[in-house]
Amino acid sequence: MSHLPPSAPRRRERPHRPPGRHPESLMMSFGYRPELSEGAIKPPIFQTSTFVFHSAEEGKEFFSYAYGLAERDPARPIGLIYSRLNNPNIQILEDRLNLWDGAEASAAFASGMAAIATSILALVRPGESIVFSRPLYGGTDYLLERLLPDMGIVTRAVPAGAAAGAVEELFAALEREGTPCRLLLLETPANPTLVHSDIAALSEVAHRRGACCAVDNTLLGPLYQQPLRHGADLVLYSATKYLGGHSDVVAGAALGCEPVIERIKLYRTILGSVPDPHSAWLLLRSLETFKLRMTCARKNAEKVARFLAGHPGVGSVLYPGLLPEGEQRELFARQCTGPGALIAFEPAEGTEEAAFRLLNRVRLIKLAVSLGGTESLIEHPATMTHADVPVESQRELGITPGMVRLSVGIEHPDDLIADLAEALGPA
Ligand SMILES: Cc1ncc(COP(=O)(O)O)c(C=O)c1O
Repeated sequence: MSHLPPSAPRRRERPHRPPGRHPESLMMSFGYRPELSEGAIKPPIFQTSTFVFHSAEEGKEFFSYAYGLAERDPARPIGLIYSRLNNPNIQILEDRLNLWDGAEASAAFASGMAAIATSILALVRPGESIVFSRPLYGGTDYLLERLLPDMGIVTRAVPAGAAAGAVEELFAALEREGTPCRLLLLETPANPTLVHSDIAALSEVAHRRGACCAVDNTLLGPLYQQPLRHGADLVLYSATKYLGGHSDVVAGAALGCEPVIERIKLYRTILGSVPDPHSAWLLLRSLETFKLRMTCARKNAEKVARFLAGHPGVGSVLYPGLLPEGEQRELFARQCTGPGALIAFEPAEGTEEAAFRLLNRVRLIKLAVSLGGTESLIEHPATMTHADVPVESQRELGITPGMVRLSVGIEHPDDLIADLAEALGPA
């Protein structure tokens, strides 16, 4: 006797992208079939830990695919088993994420750090090495500088924006030392200095040396930068930021080719770094307005950055839309399609005291870490998001005591400018 009527769908067919449609047109419907959920226009939250099999034979077959015990016919999708392995909300989310980056496959995660850590553990073994661009997000820095070396994984930093030749020399040195590099991890633009690294040139170096190139695309992607199109093998996100966009969900994602993502998903299953169905559902809601939000935030940021650059109380402004002529500007033009909405700047005095005064005086802009939400947030990288980077390294990397990081949201730009003008003005 079957535990389910034979007509009940047990395998979710991978949806086919309708040719010619843009991702923003597909974010409301792609990968979801209302007829399977009582006609509901939105996918329900599949708040379930486990799924009923038709038969014991089917359960055996699903598990053999999920654990890679049997060769799977790519045309036959893996059936639903248990929500640490897969769940309809997560599957729909992954299908929609693929559209923006032009990815073959993706894996959603419980946080950006879960995406980064799980991917690294899937791709690098003890005795091998990782080369990474620095600065990058403080949590990633901690993982690379402190946790992975304890597990026998060698990690070496190169400055953000490093030339391909210098990176290739480091790869060669690591090979000579008997710790070949398997992963080049770039965060571009870098958090918080917004320095760009050349994805195409550095991916080529990695490939020549037998390594993968992964890009943390949280700050500009996927709207303004799509690393897979420039030769990267893996794209990583903190979906907590622009993809989620409402500061109400912590999540992450990894995107790339099918075999690499399958391997990462196996690690995700065993490490348990999967998102819960509700977080996946919140991200589906967020993706519907992703382009709208990011476009509005970018337009606001362009205005705010111009205001800051012209203000006598401001010393320096780092923003991809205000790059002076030179290599970084050329790279930005080649690699990115917009400057995003993150700005780093220093009050003219250039001190922590001046930075704190500003942080304590803004009213509409909220003093909080994170970025990419609908509301504007301001913080002090040296003592907050990047506090675990040793002070000497911070200085070398351009994280100065006076630097503040502003994530511009979707408020009226005049109100943001008025808030900053007041905070920068006389006491
Ligand atoms: C660039 C970047 N990558 C990764 C992360 C980590 O993401 P999460 O906080 O979702 O774990 C962050 C968090 O701020 C980030 O800014």
